[in-house]
Amino acid sequence: MSTTSDTQTPAEADADAALKTRHRSMWAAGGYPEMVEAFLEPLGPRLVEAARIGPGDTVLDVAAGTGNASIPAALRGARVTASDLTPELLEAGRARARDLGAELDWVEADAERLPFADGAFDKVISAIGVMFAPHHQAAADELVRVCRPGGAIALLNWTPEGTIGGLFRTIGPFAPAPPPGAQPPPLWGSEGHLAEVFGGRVELDLLERATLEVTAFERPGDFAAHFKRLYGPTIVAQANARREGREREFEEALDGYFEQADLGGPDGARFELEYLLARGVRRP
Ligand SMILES: C[S@@+](CC[C@H](N)C(=O)[O-])C[C@H]1O[C@@H](n2cnc3c(N)ncnc32)[C@H](O)[C@@H]1O
Repeated sequence: MSTTSDTQTPAEADADAALKTRHRSMWAAGGYPEMVEAFLEPLGPRLVEAARIGPGDTVLDVAAGTGNASIPAALRGARVTASDLTPELLEAGRARARDLGAELDWVEADAERLPFADGAFDKVISAIGVMFAPHHQAAADELVRVCRPGGAIALLNWTPEGTIGGLFRTIGPFAPAPPPGAQPPPLWGSEGHLAEVFGGRVELDLLERATLEVTAFERPGDFAAHFKRLYGPTIVAQANARREGREREFEEALDGYFEQADLGGPDGARFELEYLLARGVRRP
């Protein structure tokens, strides 16, 4: 299936628009901003640090959500554009930026067809974001295209082997069938996949696996409930399981998954969420 607007047939363009509408409502469902507050907040500054963002850099944050990476980048003096598919999340980001005194631009955009000129940014970043665009090659091509030669691309992605990779394998069988050509999000957290999608156009100089420790939940079931209430992909998989009469099976699979992923003890649950931090220079 072709994925870029200049190679799509009208029927493919319609199918892609319908798919992105579904993705937009998936990410607007629940309460993703509350998840960021609860345990995801450290990831944005980690990516900004790895990307070595400083005053005067022009930065594009792709699939920026509520600006978890964009806002710290702007607070370092960079000129930041936060782009995302989901207007509700951009709106929450605008409010958060106002509260924190950060100034940046917010642009609704699909990572697979970014509305920016070739080479427009010094740094292109994405924190657990671009990995959710379904057509990985199209999205990678766009990251490379909008980064200036000699500029940097820096990404933070959940790994396939980590806890969120496992979550996607657990909920996948309950979710609506993926569209043709879609690849699983956690593939972006594999070193080999990054080398493949960038294909020599980016010289990767940092590839580091690390973990986000989560201790905000008393019991593993509380973490499972958090995902069921707030996380779009989990909400959509559960609704589909309900339609298929498999909701109980879904609940057992999800609760069981977080039980076995828990590394905590009597003082509370503890999870380690593995991610891959990657940075590279865009070759001329
Ligand atoms: C897990 S959230 C991450 C948001 C943010 N980067 C953060 O660190 O909190 C995934 C984001 O990807 C966005 N997204 C999903 N598909 C996208 C696409 N095709 N183009 C742009 N953004 C997309 C969603 O709207 C959502 O904001």
